[in-house]
Amino acid sequence: MAAMALSATSVAVFFFLAVLSGGDAAVVEHTFVVSQVKMNRACRGDTLVTVVNGQLPGPAIEVTEGDSVVVHLVNKSPYGLTIHWHGVKQRLNCWADGVDMVTQCPIQPGRNFTYRFNVAGQEGTLWWHAHVASFRATVHGALIIRPRSGVTSYPFPEPHKEIPIFIGEWWEVDLVKLDTTLGDGVDYNPVNTTINGKLGDLYNCSVHLCDSGCEGALEDNFIIEVEQGKTYLLRIVNAALFSEYYLKIAGHRFTVVAADANYVKPYTTDIIAIAPGESVDAIVLADAPPGKYYMVALGNQQPPPDIQIPPLSSRVLVKYNYNPSKEQALTLGASVMAPEMPDQHNTIASFYFHGNMTGSFAHLPVPVHVDEHLFISLALGVICRGGHVPSPSLPCSKLNGSILAATMNNISFEFPSNVSLLEAHYRGNMSNAGMLHKLPDKPPIVYNFTDRAMISEGSEEAALESTLIATTVRRFRFNTTVEIVFQSTTVLQSDSNPMHLHGHDFFVLAQGLGNYNAERDVGRYNLVDPPVRNTVLVPSSGWAAIRFVTDNPGVWFLHCHYGFHMSIGMAVVFEVDNGQTLNTTLAPPPADLPICEQHDSSVAYE
Ligand code: C2O
Repeated sequence: MAAMALSATSVAVFFFLAVLSGGDAAVVEHTFVVSQVKMNRACRGDTLVTVVNGQLPGPAIEVTEGDSVVVHLVNKSPYGLTIHWHGVKQRLNCWADGVDMVTQCPIQPGRNFTYRFNVAGQEGTLWWHAHVASFRATVHGALIIRPRSGVTSYPFPEPHKEIPIFIGEWWEVDLVKLDTTLGDGVDYNPVNTTINGKLGDLYNCSVHLCDSGCEGALEDNFIIEVEQGKTYLLRIVNAALFSEYYLKIAGHRFTVVAADANYVKPYTTDIIAIAPGESVDAIVLADAPPGKYYMVALGNQQPPPDIQIPPLSSRVLVKYNYNPSKEQALTLGASVMAPEMPDQHNTIASFYFHGNMTGSFAHLPVPVHVDEHLFISLALGVICRGGHVPSPSLPCSKLNGSILAATMNNISFEFPSNVSLLEAHYRGNMSNAGMLHKLPDKPPIVYNFTDRAMISEGSEEAALESTLIATTVRRFRFNTTVEIVFQSTTVLQSDSNPMHLHGHDFFVLAQGLGNYNAERDVGRYNLVDPPVRNTVLVPSSGWAAIRFVTDNPGVWFLHCHYGFHMSIGMAVVFEVDNGQTLNTTLAPPPADLPICEQHDSSVAYE
């Protein structure tokens, strides 16, 4: 009894101290049940959607910096799955990174796996999503990291409320089918944009297919209720597969305070541009006359000759909490102010938004000495089914003979099929994972990468498409400083490319339009206060330069976060060796790591 009383006291004392010191590391535990549910959207009640815990978006994980996260994944869906913790650095813990066939084999239907990782040295908004096929379109949610010393230590005034905003897409096509047909040029498009899973009232059932009796019905809006004079922290994530988005609120401005869970120097703007994979934290002050305002998300796209998709948009209702006088009620009535959006073909506003961002000074200095320079062209290409490169003497077979591929330095990434690259790396036998190919330092041919004549098919661009399909890997020693210049090209299209690196954040040193030219552009590098990101938007017909240190052993995926580009191969794996000490060595695999169905399960880990 006495002993129990004592331990109860010590528990109380422990909690007291924990509160005083701002909270010791805790374990945040969740169970994620993945299953298919029928959802009611776009005027139909029968769309089968793969989600976590029946929700879209899935549950938010909220942690304090320094906490550990435990997620028990229960796969009740008919597909093999993995979950990636987008932006979590996973130091020495690549096993939890959740990339299908790169860091693990998928969790098969009916099986479970527990992801365990720490969230250290990062604050802000990250997110989690499936990393198999195109399932991240619906299997996603927020991962919110608050400062260890409490929300009063935000480097901005404590907001009245925090609101996650997930921009996504509503799909009616089966996402596996979507993924496997992207290379065939089959034209599937999202039905509509979603915000926090809702299509919004820009979507009108009367003009679309609908079950009987729903004609003219409007979809729901996500609603933000605000009080005048208070501030709101929007934690915005672009979870869409297809498009960059612009976000504006009528009559209000944003102050951007963080991106990809790194603080930035606050800057105020009336428009946010956000590409797939990116997150932006922005503060909104409710300082407009009380009333109703729309926040609109509009997808942008390149003008023709780029292939056009139907314009995508959705909106949120921002509603002031107040009791209008009779007069106000009469004048305001049901009217809602809508923002003036840029043209959907305007992509320069995104270029400026990204270029205006500078990092906060809190981060480590930018390394000055670079060990390895890579120049990576991002392009599309055509390859024959079966793998050979079409040429005048050996064209692809006539019927359905070619597929579209996306490339980095003209190589299109193919996932290994029998063992994950991380297992192969851990056992010191990468060749086990199949046909590997080293990512070259630069593209095989230097051409005018941004010549818009190449967007339409023709002989000029055909000569440049030459494409190899392989499992592309680039190996680095521990602690190598790498600089990458990504060059977007106009081969068959002139999309931007949001390039996302796993396991590391990087400095974004510069971006520019046209072809990169070292002599001219190195001088433009921001080595003083560049933003720190996990995703860099390489502008359409332009380039971006990043720098980082390979301080995390393992195999890390680097890929374009457009679903279309990633599914058809715009990806590479960075293999980072262990350092000299235990402290710089990849941990052994978790005991319950899923075994590849096809591969020899009798091979045990040492
Ligand atoms: Cu959010 Cu590999 O991606």
